[in-house]
Parts: sequence; structure tokens; C-alpha cells
Amino acid sequence: MSIVDDIRARLDIVDVVSGYLALQKAGRNFKAPCPFHTERTPSFIVNPERQSWRCFGACSTGGDAFSFVMRHQNLEFGDALRLLAQKAGVELSQTGKQDGERRNRLHNINRLAASYYQERLKSPQGSAAMEYLKRRGVSADMIDGFQLGYSPDRWDALKTYLASMGAPEADAVASGLIYRNDESGRTWDFFRDRLMFPIPDRQGNIIGFGGRQLQEPPADAPGYNPKYINTASTPIFDKRSTLYGLHLAHSPIRASNTGIIVEGYMDVIAAHQHGYANVVASMGTALTENQVAQLKSLATNFVLALDPDTAGQEATLRSLEASWKVIGAQSAARGRSQGVLHRRDPITLNIAALPDGKDPDDLIRHDAAEWERLTKNAPPLMSYLIPAIASRFDTASGQGKSQVVEAIFPLIAATQNPFDQQRYLQDLADALDITLDALRAGLPRTPTAPNGQRRRPMQRDGGQRQVASSALVGNREDILEDFLLGLLLNRPELRYNLNDFSPEYFRKSADREIFARWIECADIEELRASLDEPLRAHLHELMAAEDARADIRMDTLDSERALAQCMQRLKRRHLLERQEAMMLTTDITTPPPREMAAEIANVNAGIKATELR
Ligand code: UTP
Ligand code: MN
Repeated sequence: MSIVDDIRARLDIVDVVSGYLALQKAGRNFKAPCPFHTERTPSFIVNPERQSWRCFGACSTGGDAFSFVMRHQNLEFGDALRLLAQKAGVELSQTGKQDGERRNRLHNINRLAASYYQERLKSPQGSAAMEYLKRRGVSADMIDGFQLGYSPDRWDALKTYLASMGAPEADAVASGLIYRNDESGRTWDFFRDRLMFPIPDRQGNIIGFGGRQLQEPPADAPGYNPKYINTASTPIFDKRSTLYGLHLAHSPIRASNTGIIVEGYMDVIAAHQHGYANVVASMGTALTENQVAQLKSLATNFVLALDPDTAGQEATLRSLEASWKVIGAQSAARGRSQGVLHRRDPITLNIAALPDGKDPDDLIRHDAAEWERLTKNAPPLMSYLIPAIASRFDTASGQGKSQVVEAIFPLIAATQNPFDQQRYLQDLADALDITLDALRAGLPRTPTAPNGQRRRPMQRDGGQRQVASSALVGNREDILEDFLLGLLLNRPELRYNLNDFSPEYFRKSADREIFARWIECADIEELRASLDEPLRAHLHELMAAEDARADIRMDTLDSERALAQCMQRLKRRHLLERQEAMMLTTDITTPPPREMAAEIANVNAGIKATELR
């Protein structure tokens, strides 16, 4: 048993949740008003037999003790693990503990550096940087609020300061602030003569820095001095899973149910200075799934406001292709199972295309009204995506047309609203310069549409009784989810068979976490490197267990079938659990969740089909 499983087994979720909420008994379950949104009738259910929780109201999420603490206390998985390990009385392995201590040390050294840079900015040494900020219209409040600073134009300024404060040089090197040449062993300041942007995590710990040049690079050596440099990957900083400004923006995003995503540091600062507090930056890279997942837990409406330059457009396109998978699957699942009853909007993603030559920073400072108009009236993703994707192919040729359909149709199929679907099909036909009928004739014809998300005619649930709620079944299901994950990890090619499988279907946060990261990573090595020790041990266990089972050599077809079976079963479990929670929280005057029953019947049919094949 890995340490995460051990901690999970020792804790009672009722105990854990009771530490934060007043639970009321409701049959064999417990309920409370959901802590994650405002409501009068309790729709937050804790199920002791399954050791799970679920909000059946507006949040529509659930999970285990880990995910509850992560959400409620706003913690990363590793921190939730440390907290619960303590509660469970489990000694995290020495390495785990060291990890925690090391993180603290790195946070501390970053904090020291940030205050040093801040102080330098306000000294005569920083006058040019301060001038620059003034010229760009950054207010004193923002300079303080974002802890902006200046790194002196010397090789050993920070190095000397940190040494004088008694900070170990090894930590300074590990934090990326001090660079060490491995051959000579010599060390020097990584950031020199730059405007410094400390990068906080969601809790406000400084995990890295961005540094902007103050002078244009010489024309004969353009690559010599990049506009921004950022802290390289460290044990606490990974640019791809960080959103700049989230420490300030998370509450406003939740409160307004809308998040606005921009590209750069200066864009975020301009937005906050002008009262748009729900703005975060993806830090210049295409939005990663990890970033999307963090945002999704906060709101249902998002606007991407991206620079009009072509590089920006290309980045957008790439990011949308990746993030849409997550958003599409999520909104489809939500929309169908509870849209009618709860009038809950699925996640929407709109694109604000900014006028030529203006990035959000320019626009907000010079024409805030226009910024507001553009972000409020931003058209939906698909209206932007269809012509953009189509333009990458030769749509004059039949082959080009098919390629465009192949690329776009799955996205349309994942759209919930049939009127939207209709409109997007028309947009697609227009982009291809063909009629809607011609397009229909050319669409892929599979029994389940791509992503399995097509609505099917209502079916009766084939007598399939709900999974009995016994701890035993719970265990067996946990094994199922470990098996599925082990299978995926050992057979990377199965990645392409995931269809609409959502991380939500995993009940164990450790599995969810590994799955979510695995999707992000190119291979197992990268995945392993990105994990904290306890999760790495869990990963090892998952892979080893599946390896042992693989004695019965499965060929590709078998493993594909096994995967399909497991995915369907986990999906069914998820749906049943939601249905159950729904029945517990709605009164008898509410219409029965027929759409959900139909969806469950659908999954049941899918399970049968994979068995018979
Ligand atoms: P931009 O070039 O749009 O920068 O890159 P910006 O934020 O508008 O900065 P100003 O207005 O010129 O000062 C957007 C983001 O991409 C990342 C940074 O996070 C930046 O904020 N970036 C950009 C880099 O990491 N390195 C670079 O060389 C350039
Ligand atoms: Mn800019």
C-alpha cells in the first residue's frame, strides 16, 4: 500500500469534513450547506461508506478527503497530504518530510529575495527601473501590491545579500535565484539589471520570478537579452502550472463567476490597477490543461483576451485545442445531467480578439471602456476556432475539407446546446464553402458520436441496480481505478483512447492528480519528475501492480477493451453517485432526473457492447 492509500484508509471522511463544517445526519449519509457556494438548502453530501463527498448544487464536484481539504483550504495536493498525514498519525517518509521542509526553505529564500529587490527598486540604484514603471503608468499601489522590484546590474548583489542573511547557498541555487556553473563551481546572480516580478502561488507564497529587461537588446544580437527571463523549473516552480495573479484573482473570479485570462505580467497589473480584479496571466505560454483545471474549479465563464500578434494567435489555437478537451467534456457531463434541474450553465469560453497593436495592458490604460466592451461581448470559442482552424488547411481540395471536418467536428459534437451545434455546423459549412447538407453527408457516422456525447433517445435503465453501497464494493472500485491508471501508465499509446473520460471519474485524489499530470506530460519520466515523493511512490505502485497482472499478456486489442470497460464503469459509478446525491438533496416535487437515468442507461449499453464485442 502506498503512503497515500495508507493515509486514506486511516482517515474517516466524516471526521475530516467535520473539522471544517457542521454536518447533519441524513440517513446513512451526512449533509451540510455546501461550503463552496452560497445556498440555503444543503446539497453537500458526505458518504461514509464510500468515503466520498459531493456537492449536488452549483459546484457539482466531489471527491475524497484529500480533494475536500485541497478545495476547502486552498491547498496543493502535496500540502493536503502533509496535513492529513499529520491527522492520520502517519509519518511521511523522511524524504516526504524533507520535501516539505525544502519547500518552506525555498519559499523563504524567495521571500528574502523579493524584499531585497523591492528595497533596491526604491533606492537610487533602482531609479531607472522606477522611472520605467512610472512611464508605463504603474501606480505606487500596484508596485507594492505586486511586490515589484529591481535586480541590480551586478554579478553578486543578491548572492552577497543572501549570504549576509545566513541563507545557505545550496538553497539559493535550488531556488533558481543564483546560477551555478557545474564545471567551475562558480556562482552568480541569475537576474541582473531587470525589473522583477515575484510570482506567488495561489496562497501567496513566492515560488519564482520573472525579470524584464529595461533596455532594448542590441540590434546586432537580438537573442542576447530576452525581454523576459523566468525562474527555471525548480522543486516549487513550474511555469506551466502557474497562473500569474491567481493569489489576488481567485476570490474575484469565484464571486463574479468569470475569469479573464491574459498573456503577460504587465497585462495583469494594468487590469488590477483599473479595477478588473478577476484577471490572471498564462505567462506567455499556451494555456495548459493544468492551468485550465485550476480555473475551472473557480467559475464557469472564461474570457481569453489575447494579443493580436500572430504568435499570440498561434499560441491561442494550440492552447484551445488542449484546453477544450477538458472544458468540453466537463460542460457536456454537467449540462446533461443537471442542466434542466439546476439551470446550471455549462462552462463557456469566449475569445476577446483585441484590436491591432493593442495588448490588454495598452487597451486598459488607454480605453478601458473598449476593454470592457470587448471582454463582455467576446464571441464563443467556436466562432473563433472554426475559421482559424480552417485557414490552416487547403480548403479548396476535398482532402483539405475532410481534414478540417476531422479537426473540428469532435469539438462541435462536444457542444451541449443543440442550437449552438446547429450554428457551428453552419459556420463550418461556411468556412468550407459547402452547403450544410453536403457537410452532413460527410460527417463521421459512428454509433456514438465522437466523445460519446451525442444525445441518445431516452432508454429505460435495463434493470441495472445501483451499485450496493458497501465498503467492500468501495474497495473493489478503488482497485478498478488503480487498474485503469496502471494500464494507461504502462501503455502510453492508450492515451489516444480516452475520449471523454474526465479526471472527475477517479474518486481517489491521488489517482486524479496523477492522471491529470500524466495528460500534461510527454512521457513517464517527465511525469515522475513532476511528482512529490509520496505521489511518486503511488505511481510506482500503480505501475508495478499492473505489470504483475500483465503476465496474462494482453495484446493491444485486449488492452483497449479493458480500458474501455474500466472507463465506462468508472463513469457509471460517477453518475450513480451523482444521481444518489441528487435524490438525497431534492424533494419529491422536483422532477426525477430523467436525463441522468438516460445517460446511465447509455453507459450501461456501452459496457454491454464492449463485453460482447
Ligand atoms: P509579451 O511580450 O506580450 O510581454 O509576453 P508583455 O507582458 O506585454 O510585456 P511588456 O508589455 O512588453 O512589458 C507576454 C508574457 O510572455 C512571457 C512573460 O510572462 C510575458 O509577460 N514572456 C515573454 C517570456 O517569458 N519571455 C519572453 O521573452 C517574452
Ligand atoms: Mn505589453
